[in-house]
Amino acid sequence: MREPAIGVVGATGLVGQELLELFEKRTPFTIDKLSARTFALDKSYDFLFLATPSPISKEIVSLAKEKTGCIIDLSSAHRNDPTVPLIIPEINGYLLEKNPALIASPNCTATILLLPLAPLHRLYTIKKIIASSYQAASGAGALGLKELLHNEPPSIFPHPYAYNVFLHESPRSQDNFCEEEEKVIFETRKILEEPRLPINIRCVRVPVERAHSLSINVIFERPPKEAARILEESSGLLYHPSPTPRYAEKRDEVLWGSLRQDSTDPCGLDLWVCGDQLLKGAALNAFQIFDKLSSQIKTCL
Ligand SMILES: NC(=O)c1ccc[n+]([C@@H]2O[C@H](COP(=O)([O-])OP(=O)(O)OC[C@H]3O[C@@H](n4cnc5c(N)ncnc54)[C@H](OP(=O)(O)O)[C@@H]3O)[C@@H](O)[C@H]2O)c1
Repeated sequence: MREPAIGVVGATGLVGQELLELFEKRTPFTIDKLSARTFALDKSYDFLFLATPSPISKEIVSLAKEKTGCIIDLSSAHRNDPTVPLIIPEINGYLLEKNPALIASPNCTATILLLPLAPLHRLYTIKKIIASSYQAASGAGALGLKELLHNEPPSIFPHPYAYNVFLHESPRSQDNFCEEEEKVIFETRKILEEPRLPINIRCVRVPVERAHSLSINVIFERPPKEAARILEESSGLLYHPSPTPRYAEKRDEVLWGSLRQDSTDPCGLDLWVCGDQLLKGAALNAFQIFDKLSSQIKTCL
């Protein structure tokens, strides 16, 4: 059996760096570090990760798809395409059994929201989700983190970042969600296979380096009596008595806590979660997709 040929495009970025570290620590494989700026596919890859902005991912997919076994795209470029599976292995990893040639890894906020909600949905059926996110600067990539830490221009945010809290982006009109909120809504519905699920979300930037938090209110069809036990038993989650981004950073698991019954509805729950958006929200999720696929196709390599 030969070693799989693996490349990461966008290897200099925050997500690309995390992916390289995961491969270095958890596999014996060597990885080609590729730059999107000088991209020329002179070799065939079994797995090609795209940790690049969406327009760049789109271009690379059209250039690389013929010569690549499987492309795992971390950008939003292909998430809305109904023919492209949008995968969180713990939730819908079974879709990988068809060995898709192009896979999208979801938005980081959607992933951290879904990890606790999907197992509860299976049992109690979600009727409605209302959530607010508290998103870290590194969610906006290397430039976002630099701006929080060093207040360096060019500014990529609409407001001063340090010591401040502000809406993720301006909505296109007063009645609309902003782009990040639209991504969370669309991707949550796609992954749960519930195209009309009512979801209301407000995405907010907070002066945190790493790890997104979410305050979640969720209403089910039935009273979620065993919710704590289900969360305890679900993979990718870890109970914490007081989750914070600092406790969640550099951890594989999404931390959950402060679970309580909704005081207005016996079928409702309040939950607080924190998850490292560079890991489970991005690089780790893509790595787990690779891990599952590579064990499926081991015999073919
Ligand atoms: N950050 C997160 O928490 C997170 C979570 C989930 C998904 N994602 C997605 O993952 C992707 C990478 O995000 P990131 O946070 O790693 O961003 P980043 O730190 O800004 O890195 C972006 C990477 O793309 C390259 N790049 C940027 N602009 C380019 C251009 N015009 N032409 C060619 N290459 C270009 C950069 O290369 P240079 O070094 O040469 O500039 C760098 O390697 C994005 O699509 C993002 O939406 C990010």
